[in-house]
Amino acid sequence: MIALIVAFAKNQVIGNNGCIPWKIKGEQKRFKELTTENVVIMGRRSYEEIGKPLPNRTTIVISNTKNFNGENCFTAKTLKEAIELAGDKDIYISGGAKLYEEALPLVEKMYITEIDCDINGDAFFPPFDKEQFIKEIDERYEGEIPYTYVTYTRK
Ligand SMILES: NC(=O)c1ccc[n+]([C@@H]2O[C@H](COP(=O)([O-])OP(=O)(O)OC[C@H]3O[C@@H](n4cnc5c(N)ncnc54)[C@H](OP(=O)(O)O)[C@@H]3O)[C@@H](O)[C@H]2O)c1
Repeated sequence: MIALIVAFAKNQVIGNNGCIPWKIKGEQKRFKELTTENVVIMGRRSYEEIGKPLPNRTTIVISNTKNFNGENCFTAKTLKEAIELAGDKDIYISGGAKLYEEALPLVEKMYITEIDCDINGDAFFPPFDKEQFIKEIDERYEGEIPYTYVTYTRK
Protein backbone atom coordinates (compact mmCIF):
# COMPACT_ATOMS: atom_id res chain seq x y z
CA MET A 1 0.00 0.00 0.00
CA ILE A 2 1.42 3.37 -1.01
CA ALA A 3 -0.11 6.41 0.65
CA LEU A 4 0.93 9.98 1.14
CA ILE A 5 0.51 11.97 4.28
CA VAL A 6 0.56 15.75 4.44
CA ALA A 7 -0.77 18.77 6.27
CA PHE A 8 -1.54 21.82 4.15
CA ALA A 9 -3.10 25.21 4.66
CA LYS A 10 -6.06 26.58 2.71
CA ASN A 11 -3.61 28.07 0.19
CA GLN A 12 -1.86 24.63 -0.14
CA VAL A 13 1.24 25.80 1.79
CA ILE A 14 3.18 22.93 3.38
CA GLY A 15 6.37 24.70 4.40
CA ASN A 16 8.38 27.90 4.72
CA ASN A 17 12.17 28.30 4.90
CA GLY A 18 12.60 24.56 5.38
CA CYS A 19 10.14 24.35 8.28
CA ILE A 20 6.47 23.67 8.81
CA PRO A 21 5.04 27.16 9.37
CA TRP A 22 2.57 26.35 12.13
CA LYS A 23 2.70 24.74 15.53
CA ILE A 24 -0.56 23.09 16.53
CA LYS A 25 -0.44 20.82 19.54
CA GLY A 26 -1.70 17.33 18.69
CA GLU A 27 -1.94 17.93 14.95
CA GLN A 28 0.72 15.30 14.17
CA LYS A 29 -1.07 12.58 16.15
CA ARG A 30 -2.44 10.85 13.08
CA PHE A 31 0.99 10.91 11.40
CA LYS A 32 2.43 9.03 14.36
CA GLU A 33 -0.45 6.55 14.53
CA LEU A 34 -0.40 5.68 10.83
CA THR A 35 3.33 5.55 10.23
CA THR A 36 4.44 3.65 13.33
CA GLU A 37 5.73 0.16 12.39
CA ASN A 38 5.55 1.14 8.71
CA VAL A 39 7.79 3.00 6.26
CA VAL A 40 8.13 6.74 5.82
CA ILE A 41 9.75 8.05 2.62
CA MET A 42 10.82 11.68 2.61
CA GLY A 43 13.00 14.14 0.72
CA ARG A 44 16.37 15.21 2.09
CA ARG A 45 15.24 18.67 3.23
CA SER A 46 12.25 17.29 5.12
CA TYR A 47 14.51 14.76 6.83
CA GLU A 48 17.03 17.44 7.78
CA GLU A 49 14.22 19.41 9.41
CA ILE A 50 13.49 16.44 11.69
CA GLY A 51 17.20 15.73 12.06
CA LYS A 52 16.99 12.07 13.09
CA PRO A 53 15.20 8.87 12.16
CA LEU A 54 11.69 8.64 13.56
CA PRO A 55 11.30 6.01 16.28
CA ASN A 56 9.50 2.69 15.71
CA ARG A 57 9.30 2.91 11.94
CA THR A 58 11.61 2.76 8.93
CA THR A 59 12.74 6.05 7.45
CA ILE A 60 13.93 6.15 3.83
CA VAL A 61 15.43 9.48 2.77
CA ILE A 62 15.70 10.36 -0.92
CA SER A 63 18.91 12.22 -1.68
CA ASN A 64 21.56 12.36 -4.38
CA THR A 65 23.93 14.46 -2.29
CA LYS A 66 23.97 12.90 1.18
CA ASN A 67 23.76 9.55 2.92
CA PHE A 68 21.71 8.96 6.03
CA ASN A 69 22.12 5.47 7.35
CA GLY A 70 21.50 4.07 10.77
CA GLU A 71 19.12 1.90 12.67
CA ASN A 72 15.89 1.83 10.63
CA CYS A 73 17.17 4.62 8.37
CA PHE A 74 18.22 4.25 4.74
CA THR A 75 18.98 6.51 1.80
CA ALA A 76 17.72 6.01 -1.76
CA LYS A 77 18.55 7.98 -4.89
CA THR A 78 15.08 7.83 -6.44
CA LEU A 79 11.49 7.28 -5.36
CA LYS A 80 11.49 3.98 -7.27
CA GLU A 81 14.54 2.78 -5.35
CA ALA A 82 12.94 3.88 -2.06
CA ILE A 83 9.76 1.93 -2.82
CA GLU A 84 11.80 -1.17 -3.62
CA LEU A 85 13.72 -0.80 -0.34
CA ALA A 86 10.44 -0.65 1.60
CA GLY A 87 9.60 -4.25 0.66
CA ASP A 88 6.04 -5.24 1.56
CA LYS A 89 5.48 -2.78 4.42
CA ASP A 90 2.94 0.04 4.05
CA ILE A 91 4.56 3.17 2.63
CA TYR A 92 3.75 6.72 3.65
CA ILE A 93 5.24 9.39 1.39
CA SER A 94 5.89 12.31 3.73
CA GLY A 95 7.06 15.20 1.55
CA GLY A 96 8.24 17.63 0.56
CA ALA A 97 6.76 19.31 -2.44
CA LYS A 98 8.72 17.64 -5.26
CA LEU A 99 8.28 14.20 -3.77
CA TYR A 100 4.53 14.67 -3.32
CA GLU A 101 4.28 15.67 -6.97
CA GLU A 102 6.17 12.59 -8.14
CA ALA A 103 4.23 10.27 -5.82
CA LEU A 104 0.73 11.57 -6.60
CA PRO A 105 0.08 9.23 -9.56
CA LEU A 106 1.20 6.22 -7.47
CA VAL A 107 -0.76 6.67 -4.25
CA GLU A 108 -3.88 4.74 -3.29
CA LYS A 109 -4.65 6.98 -0.36
CA MET A 110 -3.89 10.51 0.75
CA TYR A 111 -4.12 11.29 4.45
CA ILE A 112 -4.48 15.04 4.52
CA THR A 113 -4.69 17.42 7.43
CA GLU A 114 -6.47 20.53 6.20
CA ILE A 115 -5.20 23.47 8.23
CA ASP A 116 -8.06 25.93 8.31
CA CYS A 117 -6.25 29.20 7.47
CA ASP A 118 -4.00 30.77 4.84
CA ILE A 119 -0.32 30.75 5.77
CA ASN A 120 2.72 32.36 4.12
CA GLY A 121 5.12 29.83 2.69
CA ASP A 122 7.46 28.77 -0.09
CA ALA A 123 6.58 25.07 -0.43
CA PHE A 124 3.19 23.95 -1.70
CA PHE A 125 1.25 20.71 -2.10
CA PRO A 126 0.79 20.19 -5.86
CA PRO A 127 -2.62 20.58 -7.48
CA PHE A 128 -4.38 17.25 -8.03
CA ASP A 129 -7.50 15.97 -9.77
CA LYS A 130 -10.12 15.59 -7.01
CA GLU A 131 -12.31 13.61 -9.44
CA GLN A 132 -9.90 10.68 -9.16
CA PHE A 133 -10.53 10.28 -5.43
CA ILE A 134 -13.33 9.80 -2.92
CA LYS A 135 -12.97 12.22 -0.02
CA GLU A 136 -13.93 11.28 3.53
CA ILE A 137 -13.91 13.75 6.39
CA ASP A 138 -12.57 11.91 9.42
CA GLU A 139 -12.28 14.35 12.30
CA ARG A 140 -12.38 18.10 12.89
CA TYR A 141 -10.53 19.83 15.70
CA GLU A 142 -11.38 23.34 16.83
CA GLY A 143 -8.87 25.69 18.45
CA GLU A 144 -6.83 28.77 17.66
CA ILE A 145 -6.04 27.20 14.27
CA PRO A 146 -8.72 24.60 13.51
CA TYR A 147 -7.83 21.57 11.39
CA THR A 148 -9.57 18.58 9.84
CA TYR A 149 -8.26 15.10 9.11
CA VAL A 150 -9.51 13.92 5.73
CA THR A 151 -8.75 10.84 3.62
CA TYR A 152 -8.79 10.67 -0.16
CA THR A 153 -9.07 7.14 -1.59
CA ARG A 154 -8.43 6.55 -5.28
CA LYS A 155 -11.62 5.51 -7.15
N1 LIG B 1 3.18 20.15 5.94
C1 LIG B 1 3.67 18.93 5.72
O1 LIG B 1 2.95 17.93 5.85
C2 LIG B 1 5.08 18.79 5.29
C3 LIG B 1 5.64 17.53 5.11
C4 LIG B 1 6.97 17.43 4.69
C5 LIG B 1 7.69 18.58 4.47
N2 LIG B 1 7.11 19.79 4.67
C6 LIG B 1 7.86 21.04 4.40
O2 LIG B 1 8.29 21.00 3.04
C7 LIG B 1 9.51 21.72 2.93
C8 LIG B 1 10.56 20.81 2.34
O3 LIG B 1 10.13 20.41 1.06
P1 LIG B 1 11.02 20.58 -0.22
O4 LIG B 1 10.18 20.26 -1.40
O5 LIG B 1 11.70 21.91 -0.15
O6 LIG B 1 12.18 19.52 0.00
P2 LIG B 1 12.19 17.91 0.16
O7 LIG B 1 11.37 17.24 -0.91
O8 LIG B 1 11.94 17.53 1.55
O9 LIG B 1 13.72 17.66 -0.15
C9 LIG B 1 14.22 17.98 -1.42
C10 LIG B 1 15.43 17.13 -1.64
O10 LIG B 1 15.10 15.76 -1.53
C11 LIG B 1 15.67 15.02 -2.59
N3 LIG B 1 14.55 14.61 -3.44
C12 LIG B 1 13.24 14.88 -3.22
N4 LIG B 1 12.46 14.30 -4.13
C13 LIG B 1 13.30 13.63 -4.94
C14 LIG B 1 13.11 12.82 -6.07
N5 LIG B 1 11.89 12.54 -6.52
N6 LIG B 1 14.18 12.30 -6.68
C15 LIG B 1 15.41 12.55 -6.22
N7 LIG B 1 15.67 13.31 -5.13
C16 LIG B 1 14.61 13.84 -4.51
C17 LIG B 1 16.70 15.95 -3.19
O11 LIG B 1 17.81 15.85 -2.31
P3 LIG B 1 19.36 16.13 -2.74
O12 LIG B 1 19.41 17.59 -3.05
O13 LIG B 1 20.13 15.75 -1.53
O14 LIG B 1 19.61 15.25 -3.92
C18 LIG B 1 16.00 17.29 -3.03
O15 LIG B 1 16.90 18.39 -3.07
C19 LIG B 1 9.89 22.16 4.34
O16 LIG B 1 9.45 23.49 4.54
C20 LIG B 1 9.11 21.20 5.21
O17 LIG B 1 8.83 21.76 6.47
C21 LIG B 1 5.84 19.93 5.09
